[in-house]
Amino acid sequence: MSQPNSHIHLIVLLPLLLISHFVNLSYSQKFDFLDVCNADDKQVLLRIKAYLGNPPSLKSWDLANDCGGPWEVWHGVKCDGEGRISSLLFFGLQDIYRISPFLDELPALRGLGFVYMTNLFGPIPYYIGKLTNLSSLTIAMTNISGPIPSFLGRLTNLGNLDLSSNKFSGPIPNFLRRLNSVTTLDLSNNKITGPLPISLGLITQLSWLSLLNNQLTGPVPRSLGGGNIIVIRLGNNKLTGDATFLIDKSNNDVIEVDISNNQFKFDMTNVDLAPRLYAMNISHNMIYGRLPKLFYRKRDFLGTYIDITYNELCGPIPNGRLLKRVDPNLFAHNKCLCGGPLPACK
Ligand SMILES: *[C@@H]1O[C@H](CO)[C@@H](O)[C@H](O)[C@H]1NC(C)=O
Ligand SMILES: *[C@@H]1O[C@H](CO)[C@@H](O)[C@H](O)[C@H]1NC(C)=O
Ligand SMILES: *[C@@H]1O[C@H](CO)[C@@H](O)[C@H](O)[C@H]1NC(C)=O
Repeated sequence: MSQPNSHIHLIVLLPLLLISHFVNLSYSQKFDFLDVCNADDKQVLLRIKAYLGNPPSLKSWDLANDCGGPWEVWHGVKCDGEGRISSLLFFGLQDIYRISPFLDELPALRGLGFVYMTNLFGPIPYYIGKLTNLSSLTIAMTNISGPIPSFLGRLTNLGNLDLSSNKFSGPIPNFLRRLNSVTTLDLSNNKITGPLPISLGLITQLSWLSLLNNQLTGPVPRSLGGGNIIVIRLGNNKLTGDATFLIDKSNNDVIEVDISNNQFKFDMTNVDLAPRLYAMNISHNMIYGRLPKLFYRKRDFLGTYIDITYNELCGPIPNGRLLKRVDPNLFAHNKCLCGGPLPACK
């Protein structure tokens, strides 16, 4: 009886012993093995810290600590395989009031982010335009304001540009077209005004675009359809005109379209929906006509997300008898839709 028991003890204990051995080992080698950050890069960070007035939130930026190992002992710092600082993320630090210079002295820096930093205000400083190697720049949930500065057009290696949830104003600048590596562009939740420039649709790699919650006006340029953009969010603006080319099959690869809460006005009757469109919010517009015959044929309606409420649609819901048990609220606030979950057509 006691034999199997002691086996179990060994099996349980052995890995624990091994783990504690490794933990001891890593502590003892802390300074000659894990502290991989390049000494020059550390000096740059210490200058940045001094420039920012030695804020308590950057207490961990101290030569006594490891710098940017896998454990990120210096707040927000990550290193590449050669120990060069490759990414800096300032997140939620409320005792920092400006974006520091000197970042261009970190030659391996590829990712830079300031997120949820509500005490950052004023325009984006010009020296951000020197960071031509950046592949990702995020300035989100700050009080940074002013127009989107033209020096961002120099950051031609950017793959991701996220300027969401700030106080940016002025128009969408044409120079964004120069950012030919950008695949994701998020300008949502700002105070951006004016029309959507044709040039936006000419960013060759762009596949994900969000301009939600701004004050954009005028029609959507054709250049935003029929290309690489597979997710396009334009909701909560003041856009007008016909946007069928965003949701119909000429926009073959599109998977998500949000044009809700604008002033779009077009006839839905003959729209042949894009084959992969699984999420479509066209609610709160002035879209009229009937729902197209093939509206639900190609897709499993309940498995997709489609919001057509608050428009001026009319006539029978196609395949209505298959949709009798669907929530009628999905069709609510239109002019005179009938059948399916709604009262029968007259
Ligand atoms: C860009 O990267 C190259 C190669 O790593 C480096 O030599 C150069 O200093 C970097 N430039 C900036 C502004 O960081
Ligand atoms: C930043 O914005 C928040 C609201 O989003 C506001 O409460 C705060 O006072 C602003 N801070 C500055 C420095 O403007
Ligand atoms: C569609 O957009 C409207 C307005 O922007 C929003 O209120 C609604 O929740 C969205 N529908 C869905 C299903 O998310």
